[in-house]
Amino acid sequence: MTSSWRRHAPNIDASLLMNRPSTSNPSSLCALSSPLLSDCSCLENVAYLNELPNYKFVKGNICSADLLNYVLEEEKIDTIMHFAAQTHVDNSFGNSFQFTQNNIMGTHVLLESAKIAGIKRFIHVSTDEVYGEQRLDQDAMDEEQLLEPTNPYAATKAGAEFIAKSYYRSFGLPLIITRGNNVYGPHQYPEKLIPKFINQLRRGRKVTLHGTGENKRNFLYVEDVARAFETVLFKGKVGVVYNIGGSNERSNIDVAKDLIGLAGYKGKEDQMITFVEDRFFNDLRYHINSDRLFELGWREQVSWEDGIKLTYDWFEKNSHRYGDIESALVAHPRAGAEKGIN
Ligand SMILES: NC(=O)c1ccc[n+]([C@@H]2O[C@H](COP(=O)([O-])OP(=O)(O)OC[C@H]3O[C@@H](n4cnc5c(N)ncnc54)[C@H](O)[C@@H]3O)[C@@H](O)[C@H]2O)c1
Repeated sequence: MTSSWRRHAPNIDASLLMNRPSTSNPSSLCALSSPLLSDCSCLENVAYLNELPNYKFVKGNICSADLLNYVLEEEKIDTIMHFAAQTHVDNSFGNSFQFTQNNIMGTHVLLESAKIAGIKRFIHVSTDEVYGEQRLDQDAMDEEQLLEPTNPYAATKAGAEFIAKSYYRSFGLPLIITRGNNVYGPHQYPEKLIPKFINQLRRGRKVTLHGTGENKRNFLYVEDVARAFETVLFKGKVGVVYNIGGSNERSNIDVAKDLIGLAGYKGKEDQMITFVEDRFFNDLRYHINSDRLFELGWREQVSWEDGIKLTYDWFEKNSHRYGDIESALVAHPRAGAEKGIN
């Protein structure tokens, strides 16, 4: 893995990162992203990678077996980090068929191509949301916790995990699964909570807070997440699931207040928040136990205060690169809802 990937990794939206020729000394990085799902993709975010001799970007869809088979063979890929997915929970309350297609079918096609290509390591990137809602009095959830996803996005991520596990058990595919907390940081598409609030505030608007704002999420700064993936890639054990959890558990209303302060409205928090209808279902929290990852040597390094300031500053300078983001800034984006049945 290149150090520049580690340093500059955006959110984790490089869709597919592949190394060759060897997992212990990878020399190449190849990213595959879908032209169909470009709403949240931004080529400018990864433009700096073009200068690297060991990087190649292929525009394509992981649902295309022909393309995957061709790329894996042509580029002599031996390691896959599978990030590609439809990820926004709100959108999954719209057309969730697209989530099944890309997250479950896409993963299945990629697994099959990986099997044919004799891949040496397959990191399947899942999410803490597959655990479903956690009560406040419940202990941190470890990797053996039952999966009880509560929204269509999380359900497709859980489904993809089961297919991936079946390829490990049936065919010996060298699989590792990660389940991570919420990522935040520079480059993240403004449909997600933090960049959305920043962009609302920068336009002089109030932030749109779902429900009472009491729901909690654990926020991990993107560089810590990239380091976690590097750790899992090089030190993780095949057949094992690793939680990637941090210590910045914050309620959405506290996040909103911190951002309102950074935007120069300190003391006017009440005036800068609009409470809107909650999601159809909004998990209270996901508090996960990351002892397995700690055993590999990973530790969270970036404090909330530093991370949120770096993020705010980045969006002040770079938000223009996403073009027209109005549809992402509404309280409940439902991209594709008109095409779905729910
Ligand atoms: N962002 C988070 O807080 C978070 C937390 C835990 C896990 N994850 C997981 O990490 C991964 C990346 O998340 P993100 O937030 O960077 O997502 P994102 O939505 O910003 O980016 C996903 C990328 O996948 C691509 N993609 C989707 N379907 C594709 C297809 N069929 N073929 C090729 N490319 C396709 C999109 O074009 C996009 O570039 C996802 O698997 C997600 O479930 C994210």
